Amino acid sequence: MKIAAVLGSPRLKGNSATLAEEFLREAERLGAEGERFRLQTMKYGGCTGCNTCKTKTECCVLKDDLSRALEAIRETETVLIAAPVYAFDIPAQLKALMDRWYSFFKPYYYRGKDVSRLAPGKKIIFVIAQRAPEGTFMDVVQRYDFMFKLFGFQPTYLIRGCNLGDDPEAAARRPDLMELARKTARQVMAGEPSTSEIPSYVVRGFQV
Ligand SMILES: Cc1cc2nc3c(=O)[nH]c(=O)nc-3n(C[C@H](O)[C@H](O)[C@H](O)COP(=O)(O)O)c2cc1C
Repeated sequence: MKIAAVLGSPRLKGNSATLAEEFLREAERLGAEGERFRLQTMKYGGCTGCNTCKTKTECCVLKDDLSRALEAIRETETVLIAAPVYAFDIPAQLKALMDRWYSFFKPYYYRGKDVSRLAPGKKIIFVIAQRAPEGTFMDVVQRYDFMFKLFGFQPTYLIRGCNLGDDPEAAARRPDLMELARKTARQVMAGEPSTSEIPSYVVRGFQV
């Protein structure tokens, strides 16, 4: 199994990267092949709204370091997205990638049905690290989980580290989170469905 892994924190060895790497290590031990995209080391821009991917092409026409990441997400059956919560959302570096996912929408996506150019049934692992406790910022997970489902992914496998403060090594000292990362890798590799509990999010007019 190939895994396209997007590491979205500007900290290359921060908490979300630590949990993502723990997942990838276990998955690779079980035979997976991970391709890592460390956004902080890459040069790229956000979507320019040119709409060429809706009128002339099937892909984003911008050519930069995100091109290969988008191609890998399109080609690969399993995708991992890792990020901290920044200012109540994902960091700008990752948001630029999510905006470029717009190219995965078919032209009439806003009609709400049959919206995705991605093959259905891909798996997605969402790794989130945050300073705040569990009861906070679940909406970030819900919104991106909705988006993943809209693009045809199976229910999200969630690896969520809360109460991590600002210490980049906090996740490495949390055996429960490190075990969650490894357990999730075993589930994914065994083809077991996600057991993550993510309250559903509703966007009127779109069916997931
Ligand atoms: C610019 C910035 C904004 C942040 N905003 C939030 C926030 O809104 N909510 C929160 O819980 N933590 C917030 N944090 C804390 C990070 O989510 C937390 O330190 C996380 O563990 C960092 O993960 P990383 O090491 O993978 O980057 C913020 C940190 C920074 C640097």
